Amino acid sequence: MNLKKSFSKLSRVERLKYLQVKKLLIQKDIEYLQNSASSEMLDLSESFIENTIGCFSMPLGIVPEFYMDKKEYTVPMVIEESSVIAAVSKTAKWIRASGEITTRVHGQDIIGQIQFGKVKDIHLCEKLIEEKSNEFINMANQLVVPNLVARGGGVNYLSVRKIDRDNRIDGAKMLVVHVYMHPCDAMGANLINQVCEFLRDPLEQLIQEKASMSILSNLVDSKLTEANIIIYNIDNNLGEKIAEASLFAKQDQYRATTHNKGVMNGIDAVLVATGNDWRAVEAGVHAYAARSGQYRAITEWSIEKNNIIGKIIAPIVVGTVGGMTKSHPMAQINLKILNIQQSDELSRLAGAVGLVQNLAALRALTGEGIVRGHMKLHIQNLIVSITASEGEKKALKTMAEDFLKINGKITQSDIMNLLRQLRESHSKTLRN
Ligand code: MEV
Repeated sequence: MNLKKSFSKLSRVERLKYLQVKKLLIQKDIEYLQNSASSEMLDLSESFIENTIGCFSMPLGIVPEFYMDKKEYTVPMVIEESSVIAAVSKTAKWIRASGEITTRVHGQDIIGQIQFGKVKDIHLCEKLIEEKSNEFINMANQLVVPNLVARGGGVNYLSVRKIDRDNRIDGAKMLVVHVYMHPCDAMGANLINQVCEFLRDPLEQLIQEKASMSILSNLVDSKLTEANIIIYNIDNNLGEKIAEASLFAKQDQYRATTHNKGVMNGIDAVLVATGNDWRAVEAGVHAYAARSGQYRAITEWSIEKNNIIGKIIAPIVVGTVGGMTKSHPMAQINLKILNIQQSDELSRLAGAVGLVQNLAALRALTGEGIVRGHMKLHIQNLIVSITASEGEKKALKTMAEDFLKINGKITQSDIMNLLRQLRESHSKTLRN
């Protein structure tokens, strides 16, 4: 099938037809895609992205009775990985009984960058920009983000960074203007990009140099979210194991990567549930984890007196207004469940859930390991994908759990063997 018009101009039905004619999908797949969400949601998706063919569902679960700063939350999480929600729930319960979670946010401004690739007299340019800085800030506030200013936000200051080029033959340097802006309860990506693009022209005219690009930075070290967990009178042996696991992830980048992945299991699941840009937060958190020059754990655990104390400090920039948070019905429902209106509160909650998830992982890893816990839920995943009657699946689940208890692991082929055994014993019973 050759396209007579651009793919994005096709209707959804035509796009599905295209996939069928190309023999990429059969009728059953097409029907599945057509029913992959309500027609309202499918239409809405067309306004989010181009070339929509359906919606991709992910499980949404909740963690009840999650206490942070002495306030109770019901936390919605969107995640496909078995046991993440169970681990957060179990650990939140432990903290509720034996400790507490406290949080805060340091700073308020997000960052935009305007880059001048090769600047001849960098000191002169820096001086000129510093002199005009207030004028530019006022211009941007009045002309680009007046509504934000009315809500108490807006551009607060500009700074100049001088960066070496890799090839310094002609002595030219890069000059990067950083724009700091308080986005109120928005994540602020679109607003800061608009401000940077607006400021590009007057800056070019002022320093008589050409800007190469202007865009936000996801390394928002000017607005950091902190969450702390304390568990009082922890079993000494367990506390030491958790502190040792923390040291491992601090010192070794291979372990740090997996350790931080576990933290992001918690953070991302909250971000997805609330329609936030988890890729932006991922990029920022990992870059921040490497700020010393070595990639390290984003959390730290230590024993003080008889207590274990954990901390995360990371750029977790989110919004509760604007973008998907407002337009996606599920994001709205989840924000309602959370009962959160302010972006700082949401970022504190995401950080806290990440830290709780991390504690759960370290406790499991330094104890019985995660395979056993993961596998119990994984059994359900393995069984769901096989062709068997509901009765067989139920019996299989019990057999698989017994198998796991004895062997400590179970795979898809073990499940198939168990199904064979089940059917053989069933037909024997029928023959007798
Ligand atoms: C798995 O998704 C996450 C863990 O690997 C995290 C960790 O190792 O700390 C269990």
